[in-house]
Amino acid sequence: MTEHAPLFENPDRNLALELVRATEAAAIRATPFIGHGNKNAADGAAVDAMRKFLGTVNFSGTVVIGEGEKDEAPMLYNGEVVGNGRGPACDIAVDPIDGTSLTAAGRRNAISMIAAADRGSMLDASSVFYMQKLVAGPDLVGVVDIRLPIGENLRAIANARGRAVSELQVAVLDRPRHEDLVRDIRAAGAGTRLLLDGDVAGGIDAASVDGLFDICVGTGGSPEGVATACAIKALGGVIQTILAPQSDEERQRGLDAGLKFDHVYEADELVKSDNTFFVATGVTDGNLVSGVRRRGHIIRTESIVLRSHSGTIRRVIADHLAERWLDD
Ligand code: FBP
Repeated sequence: MTEHAPLFENPDRNLALELVRATEAAAIRATPFIGHGNKNAADGAAVDAMRKFLGTVNFSGTVVIGEGEKDEAPMLYNGEVVGNGRGPACDIAVDPIDGTSLTAAGRRNAISMIAAADRGSMLDASSVFYMQKLVAGPDLVGVVDIRLPIGENLRAIANARGRAVSELQVAVLDRPRHEDLVRDIRAAGAGTRLLLDGDVAGGIDAASVDGLFDICVGTGGSPEGVATACAIKALGGVIQTILAPQSDEERQRGLDAGLKFDHVYEADELVKSDNTFFVATGVTDGNLVSGVRRRGHIIRTESIVLRSHSGTIRRVIADHLAERWLDD
C-alpha cells in the first residue's frame, strides 16, 4: 500500500489552489444549464467536469461526503477515490453544485464547492441527513450557543457588537420547518434573510468580515455542515450543530454509526484536522462570489480559496479562453 504524507508535512502547498480548477470547471460546465429547468442535467455536467479535473491533482482523496451511494447516483459517490494518487491522503467533501434548484431556475447563490482535510478527519454523518446549525463570525466565539433560544443569542450578538437587535440580519433557509424560528427571530426584533437554498454560502457569509449576515441558523444538510466546518476553520468563527434525525429509523442508523444525539458538534468534531481547505466557485451570482460570465472570447469565474493552516482567504478571478471549453 502507498504511504501518504499527511498534509501538514507539505506546509508550503496550498492544495486548495489546485482544487479550485475543479470547481471552476464544474461551474463553467453547469452554466449552459442555468435557467433551463433541469437540475439533474446541470448537476451531471458539473459532476463530470469536477471528476475530470480532480483526477489531475496530486493527492489521494477519498470522497467522504459526496452525492450519495455508488449505486444510487451516477455522481461523485461516498467512498470514491479521486486525485492522481501521488500526493497526500485526504478526505474530501464535494458538492459540484450547492443549489441545483437555484441553477435550474436561474436564481442567485448557486456555488460549486470542495472541502478537503487530512485523511480520516471528517465526521461521516451520512446516516443522518439533516442537522441544526448555527454559524457566525470569529468575534462571536463564546458569545452564541445553539442550545439557547434564538432571541437570547440575538441579544448577546447585539451586545457584543454594540448594535441594536433590529440592525441584525439572520440567514435562514426558507422552509416550512423554520416557521417558528423565523417568527422568534422577528419577535426578537431582528430581520431575516430567507435563503431559497445554499446554507454553505450562507454560513460562510455569516462568518466573513464583509458578510451581509450576522448569523446563519436553522436546519440543513449534514454534509453541507461538515463542508462549512472546513471553511470556518480557515475563516475563524463558530459552527455549532446538532443532528436532526427525521425518523426513529434514521436515529437508529445514526446510533449504529456511532453518532451522538442531543450533542453539540462544533468545528473540531465535524472535522478533526486543523489542516483544512475549502474552495467554492460561483455558478450564478451570489453574495459570496459572482457567477460565471462570458465576456467575448473569455469566460470569467470567481472563487474563494481558503486554507486553515495559513489562515489565508483568497479570491481568485480567472479568465478562461472560451474556445477551450467549446467541446471535449
Ligand atoms: P443541493 O443543491 O445540493 O440539493 O443542496 C441545497 C441545499 O439548500 C443545501 O444548501 C442545504 O443544506 C440543503 O439543500 C437543505 O435541504 P432541503 O432542501 O431538503 O431543506
